[in-house]
Amino acid sequence: MTCPYDVLLSRLQSAFDHVVVGADPVLRPSDRGDYQANGIMALAKSQGMAPREMAQRVLDVLDLSGVAEVEVAGPGFLNLTLTSEYLDETLRALLDDERLGVATLTPRTAVIDYSAPNVAKEMHVGHLRSTVIGDALARIYRFRGYSVVARSHVGDWGTPFGMLIEHLVDLGEATAMAALSIGDLDGFYRAARVKFESDEDFRERSRQRVVSLQGGDPETRRLWQILVDESVAYFAEVYSALDVTLTPDDVVGESYYNDMLDAVVTDLDAAGLLVESAGALCVFPEGFTNREGEPLPLIVKKSDEGFGYAATDLAAIRDRVDHLHADELLYVVGAPQSQHFEMVFAVARAAGWLPAALRCEHVAFGNVLGPDRKMFKTRSGETIKLIDLLDEATERAEAALVQRSQDLSPEQRHQLATQIARAAIKYADLSNDRQRDYVFDLERMIAFEGDTGPYLQYAHARLRSIFRRLGTAWDPRAARFSLGADAERDLARGLIAFPEAVDAAMATLHPHRLSGYLFELAQRFTTFYEACPVLSAPEPSRTERLALCDLTARTLRLGLSLLGIEAPEQM
Ligand code: ARG
Repeated sequence: MTCPYDVLLSRLQSAFDHVVVGADPVLRPSDRGDYQANGIMALAKSQGMAPREMAQRVLDVLDLSGVAEVEVAGPGFLNLTLTSEYLDETLRALLDDERLGVATLTPRTAVIDYSAPNVAKEMHVGHLRSTVIGDALARIYRFRGYSVVARSHVGDWGTPFGMLIEHLVDLGEATAMAALSIGDLDGFYRAARVKFESDEDFRERSRQRVVSLQGGDPETRRLWQILVDESVAYFAEVYSALDVTLTPDDVVGESYYNDMLDAVVTDLDAAGLLVESAGALCVFPEGFTNREGEPLPLIVKKSDEGFGYAATDLAAIRDRVDHLHADELLYVVGAPQSQHFEMVFAVARAAGWLPAALRCEHVAFGNVLGPDRKMFKTRSGETIKLIDLLDEATERAEAALVQRSQDLSPEQRHQLATQIARAAIKYADLSNDRQRDYVFDLERMIAFEGDTGPYLQYAHARLRSIFRRLGTAWDPRAARFSLGADAERDLARGLIAFPEAVDAAMATLHPHRLSGYLFELAQRFTTFYEACPVLSAPEPSRTERLALCDLTARTLRLGLSLLGIEAPEQM
């Protein structure tokens, strides 16, 4: 089915285009009517015409028959109100449509780089953001028919591995593995660091280890693999606790690109882009300067012969474009790495590795702050473990459920609390504009009221409870939408706008466009539910209202699932 927004837009487009070739309308939801079309004023201006006159010209060729009533407002806005017949038709089509009006797109391949923690280091809240945002985008893309290749670009290479391997040797493999598998990655890392700083002999051994690692010494490689495997297994536990779709196959660490790094250098050189500067091999992409106005280098190979973070990212671009056949590349990484990505993209473009038509974007996000509005850390200044946050959220949800739902078994309660906790944490992250910082406030996030994940889950569960109390069967096919009450019409208007919200989230890579929509829909439902009795209403109202409830429940459920949030039947 085609959603009303698309129908209106395409009809407007042909009218605008008829009047002035290439002219584009802008269509927005509006409280005057259902939508408002802009663009006439700009058009009038460009043609030296009065806006009202231009509006008339558009109206003369605009065919909205059977879809909407139109009215010119102000100096040239078109207010569009969907007709009752068209709303009825649309809602009935939605009842029959599993996708709730969301179209599938031409299949393309998107490589989404997200999560990317570091081996032998705890996942911190920055990785939480990357994981949660990246996973929501991956789900939205898949739902639209894209094939998504997830890439968790874990830091698994570099000089610290010398000291980490030596520490592993000192501890003995069994002890080291036990320490890592209980998830004390930071403890392990810190202990290695302390020795590295205080013990000359250890330092020397660590240096030699780096050389053996880079030289491909089999025993060193085996030890390194232990660190990688234990860490990746631990990350997988966190992902499953969070209900994130990443699998161990999606973990493709920096080391994977090692064999491709020489070619990066050779090919950059052949393209005439490589410059030696202070002993390092660099590219100076056009348009990047430091504060003093000097050209800024992207360091590909350092003077000590080591390849840098940027070289790996360049190799990864080539791999993703050439071997994974990406049509789109997304990097869900914190805002501090903006310049890194801009420069890497610029160099890849200059080298001809990134076709111009390929969408390549850094999906940047802000920080998670503590209650003091500083970086979110424990009191002693350590990074906060994701898994601890989740456990605390689950405990709180369980306590709340003890008060609310008496008839749950302890297992059911725990299961439900887990779903609520994940929803609370994910939704708090996704409902904020990703580019801004947000304050991690568990109390607020887990509340059943307000703009929270649990609130939306609860709205869904309330809807489902209506159907449990149904008594007599109802027939969705008998539903006719006359939408006599304002609250009914408002809810209907919310329901038909779901495809727009999914579109907007995908086009802007801002999941909060979808979460904001869902929150508004839940509010429309609350108003409706207060104003309009459902089960006790006489027919045909009862069937009509049940159908609205059914659509609302399904929209909330599908919308939440695209954000990676479950919608329990009962709460
Ligand atoms: N491991 C890096 C970090 O923790 C993030 C990697 C992001 N992805 C990339 N392709 N550079 O900061």
